[in-house]
Amino acid sequence: MAILPVYVYNHSVLKQKATPISEITPETKQFIEDMFETMYHANGIGLAANQVGSSLPIFVVDITGAEDDTKHERQVFINPEIISFSEEKGEYEEGCLSVPDLRDYVDRPLKITVKYRDGNFVEQIEEYDGLMARVIQHETDHLNGIYFFERLSSIRRTLLSSKLKKIQKGNFKASYQTVLP
Ligand code: NI
Repeated sequence: MAILPVYVYNHSVLKQKATPISEITPETKQFIEDMFETMYHANGIGLAANQVGSSLPIFVVDITGAEDDTKHERQVFINPEIISFSEEKGEYEEGCLSVPDLRDYVDRPLKITVKYRDGNFVEQIEEYDGLMARVIQHETDHLNGIYFFERLSSIRRTLLSSKLKKIQKGNFKASYQTVLP
């Protein structure tokens, strides 16, 4: 087990798109364990592989720290693909381990259907709502090279631009080890 450093905006790895894999190796399983350990250490509720410098199409989620929710325990998503989105949208405040000290309200579909492979590489198709739907969309965006703040209005993004410049220079507080661009 290892705690991995988290890559921070504006590192090029966070703009990489992950491509699907056809199997999981013991090394990949070990990497997934490291991702969970890294996420828990940083008090995150989701973590995508490129946030720890990997190009694998994998993210991990555990929202039990954020919500009193026992039906969604630690879960890994491999080759995730959101195959349907509800028309109904809602705003919720998001943050990101790769964009420390920045939070904002993002408008997203409230319900989604996701196709993915689980930790045993078995295909699953599941519907999600609430915080799980939110986190899955945020993490799937990471695997497509998209930051949550890119979902904000251009006015909002302009207001955040000086803060983003500070972040990429390492001018932020984080309780975990980071890799600057
Ligand atoms: Ni994030």
